[in-house]
Amino acid sequence: MNVCIVGTGYVGLVSAACFAEMGNDVVCVDVNPHIVEMLNKGYVHIFEPGLEELVARNARDGRLRFTTDLAEGLADALCVFVTVGTPSKPDGSCDLIYVHQVAAQIGQAMTSYKIVIDKSTVPVGTADQVREIIAQELRKRGLDLPFDVVSNPEFLKEGDAVNDFMKPDRVIVGTDSERAAKHLEALYAPYARSREKLIMMGVKSAEMTKYAANCMLATKISFINEIANICEMVGADVREVRMGIGSDHRIGYHFIYPGVGYGGSCFPKDVKALINTAKEYGYKPRLIESVDLVNSRQKLMLSNKIKNYFADQGGVKGRTLAMWGLAFKANTDDMREAPSIDIIRDLTAEGMRIRAFDPVAGDKARETFKDNPLVEIFDEQYGALENADALAVVTEWNQFRNPNFTRMKRFLRAPIVFDGRNLYSPSFMSSEGFAYFSIGRRP
Ligand code: UGA
Repeated sequence: MNVCIVGTGYVGLVSAACFAEMGNDVVCVDVNPHIVEMLNKGYVHIFEPGLEELVARNARDGRLRFTTDLAEGLADALCVFVTVGTPSKPDGSCDLIYVHQVAAQIGQAMTSYKIVIDKSTVPVGTADQVREIIAQELRKRGLDLPFDVVSNPEFLKEGDAVNDFMKPDRVIVGTDSERAAKHLEALYAPYARSREKLIMMGVKSAEMTKYAANCMLATKISFINEIANICEMVGADVREVRMGIGSDHRIGYHFIYPGVGYGGSCFPKDVKALINTAKEYGYKPRLIESVDLVNSRQKLMLSNKIKNYFADQGGVKGRTLAMWGLAFKANTDDMREAPSIDIIRDLTAEGMRIRAFDPVAGDKARETFKDNPLVEIFDEQYGALENADALAVVTEWNQFRNPNFTRMKRFLRAPIVFDGRNLYSPSFMSSEGFAYFSIGRRP
């Protein structure tokens, strides 16, 4: 099938590469000529395991091309995926300017039947707006070309995106058009091998499904973070509690790990956007608002522990903290809404110095903290520990799970570890002579 993907961010590029991998002919369109030039040379601007090989192979075999020209991308395409950015406005609502622009350009350039597919996460009602914008542009051209607008939200996770796309839990297709449904069924058949994985529904339900899924997952995280905080107070251990509740299959063991709060480009944005949508309809979504509030508080739990620890020793001012992990989670270089940002801001505001290391997010972190003279980013895991008063672990990279504890003690000024991801066993840490603080567990 001929596919056009507009926007080469995470969702766009992963979708493009994975569609091409199954033999489809894919043209990717992006307004940024630099990105297009790099992609045409096989260089991928996103850190995502497995993506570069996939892009390079399919580009070499001629199934994947990149251009800045939307009309060229549209020419032979039956399916046109809109995967442009949907940033947040200051009030938390979703800014649809790029989606609307692409819709207008499609209406201005199309010359035959197209299935226009919203794959970016967009508020309920966006497909109707896209339909109206395209129709308006066609009217201006005096044309009455047929087209359908479909909602097909993406559920990939950064760091495991290719796998999520190739072997999805489900593919959601929201459309009222039988013609569009038939083509999308064919396009997705190789991925959603078992029939139940392809879930067809109305357009608005599909748009809502994406927000409901992310808000549900964010709720699980804020829930377990809240339980972890209470565990600490009452002297319970959240690891044991998680095992206990997870054994009820209605609750499950997955995606219910406490930590430093959720970050990234999706949960924080989508939770806020759904709150905003509900409010637009005059409804105050109390549970989802609380999920957001609990998360903001959780992001500062680790820095509060650090401040409390040093409170009776003159505070954190003039002290140095080593930090392992800056990305919002492991296996990505993404710093968007990363808890490390809040933690560093909170501690440097009180005069603490930070020596941080991340296996891949170093460059992005240098950019993020370029105006903060108290932050230094190191390229070496143990080098960051030198002369630091304590270590904070903020991202759960595998290389932090089994470190050389003797070396850590040699570099650190004092053997103190604040662990925001519960990577180590409290009893082991204490036997190694560390003062150890984690989330929701007895020290
Ligand atoms: C998330 C969803 O998991 C995807 O299904 C969805 O498609 C995507 O958003 C999106 O809307 O595009 P992602 O943001 O890449 O994916 O990352 P997750 O792996 O979901 O992690 C989100 C945050 O939750 C991270 O900060 C992570 O550290 C945190 N988390 C996750 C926890 O604190 N505890 C957990 O048990 C799991």
